[in-house]
Amino acid sequence: DTTPDVDLALFGALGDLALRKLYPALYHLDREGLLGETTRILGLARQEYGLDDFRGRVKEALGKRVKASELDQASLERFLARIEYQRLDFATAEGYDVIREWREAARRPMVVYLAVPASIYGDICANLEASGSLDDETRVVVEKPIGYDLESSEQINDAIGEVFPESRIYRMDHYLGKETVQNLIALRFANPLFGNQWNQNQISHVEITVAEKVGIEGRWGYFDQAGQLRDMVQNHLLQLLCLIAMDPPSNLDADAIRDEKVKVLKALKPLEGEELSRNVVRGQYIGGSVDGESVPGYLEEEGANTSSHTETFVAMKLEVANWRWAGVPFYLRTGKRMPEKMSQIVIHFRQQPHYIFDPDQRGLAANKLVIRLQPEEGIALQVLTKDSGLDKGMRLRPGPLHLDFNHAFPKTRIPDAYERLLLEVMKGQQYLFVRRDEVEFAWRWIDQLIAGWEARNMPPRRYPAGSWGPVASIAMITQDGRSWYEDY
Ligand code: BG6
Repeated sequence: DTTPDVDLALFGALGDLALRKLYPALYHLDREGLLGETTRILGLARQEYGLDDFRGRVKEALGKRVKASELDQASLERFLARIEYQRLDFATAEGYDVIREWREAARRPMVVYLAVPASIYGDICANLEASGSLDDETRVVVEKPIGYDLESSEQINDAIGEVFPESRIYRMDHYLGKETVQNLIALRFANPLFGNQWNQNQISHVEITVAEKVGIEGRWGYFDQAGQLRDMVQNHLLQLLCLIAMDPPSNLDADAIRDEKVKVLKALKPLEGEELSRNVVRGQYIGGSVDGESVPGYLEEEGANTSSHTETFVAMKLEVANWRWAGVPFYLRTGKRMPEKMSQIVIHFRQQPHYIFDPDQRGLAANKLVIRLQPEEGIALQVLTKDSGLDKGMRLRPGPLHLDFNHAFPKTRIPDAYERLLLEVMKGQQYLFVRRDEVEFAWRWIDQLIAGWEARNMPPRRYPAGSWGPVASIAMITQDGRSWYEDY
């Protein structure tokens, strides 16, 4: 189905997100014929720029992010021709007339993308409305982090809600646009083989790892206020958890799916008291080496405050307290400066009720489903077969039934998360976006966790850059007789 002609007003048009993610995603959509035939893009930022210079910046950004083989002249020219630029001071109402006038030239739905800090979402929405730039089809896209805690996120959501109804607010969590994340829905609800096993009778525990190789990348000021728990767990990891743990929605409508996710967030057992010290590990990296190159510690990064206790790593053991999951631990971990960029979900199934093979191999005897988000996207099911060879008797051998998306579907380029999400916004489909109550229930749970660790004074443990985090995060899982699964 074709994408409707919608226009895109992009606030923060010279910011990091726009340059790194949004223009490349829009370019790819255009190249694949997925942008509306006459869709226009209006870049808005505070700097003074002539149109040619602005297009030059966009072109330069594309040159850094898009493979040369995919950057052909005809597609590039067509894309750049869609782009216009206006200088605008976002906080003051004057100047917003340019947006109204731009719209009047084409009368069609508009998407307003706020690639700017959440503290000015409210001003922008109010100014857009006061200038008469909106109509009842205009959609708004907002980026995470929505606030710093429940209270601030409510304020931000209220301010956006003054101008836009929930049905036209698109809260981005770019993890929801990753190919394998969407595959979680297909895998669970299209395959009886998995669908019927998806509960505490059959699953012993679940792991979610989101490991990053990068450090703070010049964002120390922002990151130090947030920390890995707010920056990654409140949104991306809890969203993954929701998609794994939710009950089947009655259909694929946005609200049917989001209703089920909210139920998971409400069922998350608070981590408090003694459990906090046992089941949560905070870490902060010190100098070390990644890919053979030595890198500074968190407190030696540019702009760092040397006494910061902000965590760059967090591991935790959670429980979803409901009928489906009671007693099944969910082990989560995420950190900066890990040895590799690797995100995966591992579903560990229970062992057979009665075991008849070599007692030494007992530890092997359980199936695992590994859902790989990055680097290569794919799904592997660890199964046990008989080791081949006449001398092996009935020795078991674990091996993967493997679906590597790049090999299985070699001709299809796996789109970046932003491509998919931008396309969904333009089509007016909300199921991959986060509803207000999801954000707020997630904050509620995170807030109590932070309050708990502040009250107990839990400074982060050190871990060398290039390692898998503090040893305590390994002890946290080995004390349960398990280990983090690192193979694929
Ligand atoms: C962002 C976080 O939301 O996600 C960053 O703010 C993090 O700190 C990034 O590096 C990770 O995204 P991805 O897609 O590279 O895994």
